[in-house]
Amino acid sequence: ALSARDSLYIVMNFAKEHFKGLLKEHEEGKSIGLSYFHERGFNDRTIEKFELGYALNEWHNLEETALAKGYSAEVLEKSGLVIFKEDQKHYDRFRGRVIFPVHNLAGKIIAFGARILTKEKDQPKYINSPETEIYHKSNVLYGMYQAKNAIRKEDFCFLVEGYTDVISMHQAGIENAVASSGTALTEEQIKLIRRFTENITVLFDGDAAGIKAALRGIDLVLKGGLNVRVLLLPDGDDPDSFSKKRSSTELKTYFQENTKDFISFKIDLYAADASRDPIKKAEAIREIITSISVIPDPIKRSVYIQETSSLLKIQESVLLTELNKILIGER
Ligand code: UTP
Ligand code: MN
Ligand code: MN
Ligand code: MN
Ligand code: MN
Repeated sequence: ALSARDSLYIVMNFAKEHFKGLLKEHEEGKSIGLSYFHERGFNDRTIEKFELGYALNEWHNLEETALAKGYSAEVLEKSGLVIFKEDQKHYDRFRGRVIFPVHNLAGKIIAFGARILTKEKDQPKYINSPETEIYHKSNVLYGMYQAKNAIRKEDFCFLVEGYTDVISMHQAGIENAVASSGTALTEEQIKLIRRFTENITVLFDGDAAGIKAALRGIDLVLKGGLNVRVLLLPDGDDPDSFSKKRSSTELKTYFQENTKDFISFKIDLYAADASRDPIKKAEAIREIITSISVIPDPIKRSVYIQETSSLLKIQESVLLTELNKILIGER
């Protein structure tokens, strides 16, 4: 007999095929959804690779198609595809949006993200599947199924914010990228990356929110015992918009030349002129030492202390005293 989880995988696969079909075959899907993706520069190979789709702008299209094929109302509710309210009221969750299926490591569909096509003030830009028996958001990174081989091969992983960032980078030939999908990174997600590499490059949007998320991400990655580098884009850009303005070669060169280890990133962020302003320099030192203090491996801590010492021209002994204060304070 089928387990409850199996039936969820099956109905999610059905929905994925349904959305894909609408994007490619249906008048509305083609004229609205497919042309949207094409306007964003996604080619058909990319669309197929990420199994992108379209949900019709109707209240019951997915539900009725599924019921006609024998799927139960119960499984449609449990999957989050149909929302049930009191008094038998119910409707499709995803309507009039382009669809980004979320795959698990084996390639099975566990969730969907859906983007609005117009700018409506009272509507969220993306709607996502709720938590279900097969979807635990905090354990998932978007794009991992498509990225895992490249992550292993390159021995590092780009961590970006959004669905379209993963897809655009992939299309530009940078296949080792996964997205936290706009939420704060979790320990489970870092453990997931660790199955493929110990090296993460945080590549967040070049705005204040992106910097804040990057800083939080750095400490979490270090805590997880992984190595972290940071790549900050110009303000106003995200990896998707940035990659659209450049060739694959330019993009790769830019990434190589602008990736910093977390210490240089923090030095530049907190104290562009740290060498001249003692207060800023002190602030930068404290920020860096705080990050170093969360690294579990004492040898790595020592290497980073040496690096900080030489970059900021501060005696190692001073840094070590600060570090030990934090380490002892934590106990
Ligand atoms: P962004 O606002 O940076 O969107 O959110 P984006 O990825 O650049 O999307 P485009 O390029 O405008 O299409 C980053 C990620 O946060 C999640 C999504 O996963 C999105 O990709 N998000 C954002 C939501 O879940 N809901 C929202 O309303 C907005
Ligand atoms: Mn109905
Ligand atoms: Mn953003
Ligand atoms: Mn973005
Ligand atoms: Mn974007």
